[in-house]
Amino acid sequence: MTIAHPNADRTETERLRDTIAATLTRARQRTLALTDCVDEAELAAQHSPLMSPLVWDLAHIGNQEELWLVRDVGGREAVRADIDELYDAFRHARSDRPGLPLLDPRQARGYAGTVRDKVWDVLERSPLRGDELVTGGFAFGMIAQHEQQHDETMLATHQLRAGAPVLSAPAPPAAATAVRGEVVIPAGEFVMGTSTDPWALDNERPAHPVDVAAFAIDAAPVSNAQYLAFVEDSGYDRRELWSARGWSHRREAGLTAPQFWERDSDGQWWRRVFGVRRPLRPQQPVVHVCWFEAEAYANWAGKRLPTEAEWEKAARFDPTTGRTRAYPWGDTEPGPGTANLGQRHLEPAEIGAYPAGASPAGVHQLMGDIWEWTSSEFHPYPGFRAFPYREYSEVFFGGDYRVLRGGSFGTDPVACRGTFRNWDHPIRRQIFSGFRLARTLGPEEA
Ligand code: AVJ
Ligand code: FE
Repeated sequence: MTIAHPNADRTETERLRDTIAATLTRARQRTLALTDCVDEAELAAQHSPLMSPLVWDLAHIGNQEELWLVRDVGGREAVRADIDELYDAFRHARSDRPGLPLLDPRQARGYAGTVRDKVWDVLERSPLRGDELVTGGFAFGMIAQHEQQHDETMLATHQLRAGAPVLSAPAPPAAATAVRGEVVIPAGEFVMGTSTDPWALDNERPAHPVDVAAFAIDAAPVSNAQYLAFVEDSGYDRRELWSARGWSHRREAGLTAPQFWERDSDGQWWRRVFGVRRPLRPQQPVVHVCWFEAEAYANWAGKRLPTEAEWEKAARFDPTTGRTRAYPWGDTEPGPGTANLGQRHLEPAEIGAYPAGASPAGVHQLMGDIWEWTSSEFHPYPGFRAFPYREYSEVFFGGDYRVLRGGSFGTDPVACRGTFRNWDHPIRRQIFSGFRLARTLGPEEA
């Protein structure tokens, strides 16, 4: 049965198609920028056992796009069914990927390009409605997010890479306002997660009420200056500040400071940023710390990490209307004035650099700059349904993961929102991870 759709409807579908095309194009520009800047040997090399060779990410991006958009949504013949196994993240550990018979850089670029050309045709013909997978452009949005997630992973690989610098970007904005202290978020229910955002991934769904006790949350993430005070107060040597697991990891891994920090013989601290050694900038949020380091710092400071629900309430709840919004500043998409996202800058901005991105209660820089560790393990929301595949979220639930929120300077806005949930092992710190602190209020404060 064919229903004649009103004209306005057709226009809306055309606008969605344009948005999808622009979003996929932006992702591919970034993928190519991150892979065209190094030679073939470096693309195939392993820069860290924690990471894939860049050329694996490149072909994996193409393969996921082929699986979902060309074969599933498009119902087309396979481009390269023979390579599915090579690019299945569950079949080979990252550390084993350099030894696989991977496509070489030229083949990988060609493959991703061939897939993309077919996707343009699939997009042109998709009604973007009807089937759950394409309604609202979901599958296309999912694949754009997937590519951008790998682009952030590739950016982390670049940070681990030795050798002459190849990436550069303008410096982030400087502080425009002083941000200090904490903000009290009164007790009460708020709506966590989403049932309506068309591109939200399965683990962000469904929207559900959560009653959150009153708490205080820091107006800003922990800065390098604050973290340095912990380092210089022998924070890494004081067993009592660390949990049992945290301490054994700190000893085994020989942690003494955040990753990429260096202290010279004069006692000056430096930070290595994409191959360039720079003086540590005191007012930037600390980055490249693992969850156990965040936990020890919180103990030293006499505070704690926020739970995931506390973080989301601080980021989305508008106390004046009682509504849960998309972002701290409201419902408009992130832009250069509200958050340091999208690899526009290749480091966190100073605290106070985004006054327009603050929440109504005055919590700054929740989105962008650094992923923020929360105290929460990664679990499904009540009513969770795996969609469209169990391997995105479900297989990780209940594992040894902690949730991170808010996105970093390396995260594209398409893969970041108030509901977006990231997760990693508590020992990981090659990701762009920092944190902010929270505090339970005493009975006389609440
Ligand atoms: C959501 C960032 C944890 O990179 O492992 C990429 C995203 N899933 N390909 C990851 C993802 C499949 C995922 N994280
Ligand atoms: Fe992937």
